[in-house]
Amino acid sequence: MAIAVIILAAGQGTRMNSARPKVLHQLAGKSLLSHVLLKAKEFSPRLTVIVHGHMGDHVKLSVSSELESLGVSDTSNLVWVEQKEQLGTGHAVTVAIEQSEAELVANKIDQILVLYGDVPLVDLKDINNLFETTDHEQLGLLTLKTANPYGLGRIIRDTENNVVNIVEEKDANSKQKLISEVNTGIFLLPYPKARNWLKSLDTHNTQNEYYLTDVIRKAVGDSVAINSVTVSDQESYRGINTLYQLAQAERHYQFLLALYLLEHGVKVIDPRRIDIRGRLDCEKDVYIDINCIFEGIVKLGKNCIIEPNCILKNVVLGDDVIVKANSYLEDVVVSNNCDIGPFARLRPGTVLADHVKIGNFVEVKKSTFAEGSKANHLSYIGDTTVGKNCNIGAGTITCNYDGVTKNKTIIGDGAFIGSNCSLIAPVTIGDNATIGAGSTVSKDAPGNKLTVSRSKQTIVEGWQRKDKTT
Ligand code: UD1
Ligand code: CA
Repeated sequence: MAIAVIILAAGQGTRMNSARPKVLHQLAGKSLLSHVLLKAKEFSPRLTVIVHGHMGDHVKLSVSSELESLGVSDTSNLVWVEQKEQLGTGHAVTVAIEQSEAELVANKIDQILVLYGDVPLVDLKDINNLFETTDHEQLGLLTLKTANPYGLGRIIRDTENNVVNIVEEKDANSKQKLISEVNTGIFLLPYPKARNWLKSLDTHNTQNEYYLTDVIRKAVGDSVAINSVTVSDQESYRGINTLYQLAQAERHYQFLLALYLLEHGVKVIDPRRIDIRGRLDCEKDVYIDINCIFEGIVKLGKNCIIEPNCILKNVVLGDDVIVKANSYLEDVVVSNNCDIGPFARLRPGTVLADHVKIGNFVEVKKSTFAEGSKANHLSYIGDTTVGKNCNIGAGTITCNYDGVTKNKTIIGDGAFIGSNCSLIAPVTIGDNATIGAGSTVSKDAPGNKLTVSRSKQTIVEGWQRKDKTT
């Protein structure tokens, strides 16, 4: 069997009330269209045709760069087709086939799977089931049993339970409206047979549109068997037409991701309060407290603890790391047994070796900490290399920016930086150097020595405070 996928994504998405094309809205950190494209890829189609309309070039550029960042660099079998006027789902599929006819023939396509750009959460199992049960001479259809069929096309079956028609909400009579089995929109079309059905579609309906659903009647007329697979998961097959539906789909999907983690040994404290906007890989016995957000690619080693309200973007943590509440980590690599936060901010380029402690209100940028070093309170460490077993006192600031360039600070192994020091980069603090509290260090400080640069304390004899009462 040679498969092509057609993704319908030309709708304006007016009900989203947004300047952004609907299929570029994000669900769990990826655009709706990228979700559908990644699903389509699972069926190894020889060709994937995307029907775009509104802001097509923008959609194409944006999705291509998104796919590249997700590691999908081969997009050579994607064909982008413009549907200038949105005359209905049947018209969209017709345009897709007409404009990719040469590729469909060259690739000997005999089955076309139709997916929707605004139905991103389709379950691969169900579509596989549809493929397995529909041979390439038949028409396959995925239907949904739902307590709330409103707005969707109703499936009409004959007395032998064969599907014979689909009637849209707006065309349905009151009896048909009671039918609880609806069209998900997902079709498996035999090709080239379906081409003739599509050519003969008309717009004789209340919406004056070319309905894809009318191919059912055409197939019945041609005595082509219709194979239907029926699913009952409501959420996954509901199209996203409004921001409210997008928010509902997000929560549903996040819940599924949380359940997956729970099944794989991750203690997600509340599966309703986690957000994974990318990929989260966890070793065993990870503990994730409420309201944490994981973006990009995040890897957590064994026994890591992530306390409430943390944000981790593109982060790798080793084993036994604790990230305390309200910390924000981005593009960071952390080894084993580190202790971070609460309220720590680790910015891109931060690398921590084993047993490092970064405490509250400490900001670190583009800096490495070697094993056993600590910056426990209220510091800014930028463009710095910190040696082993250093202690950086509260309030220490690396003054890395002179208004023009960023300069480096090097702190040797075993250095002790007293509280409230300013290290004016470029500057080197030697191994085992001690810097007295409150020093402003503008020249290199030698190893094994005490460097103090604060002004001497003086005691003014005979001074008296003013008396408030006089
Ligand atoms: C369609 C089905 C309906 C089904 C429902 C499932 C038809 C006639 N109706 O209705 O039976 O229950 O989906 O969600 O097929 N699109 C284009 N070009 C067009 C029109 C639509 O690309 O000219 C795209 C849209 O961007 C969207 C998809 O096709 O991704 C579905 O279109 P929409 O108008 O939302 O169809 P529904 O009325 O929801
Ligand atoms: Ca829809």
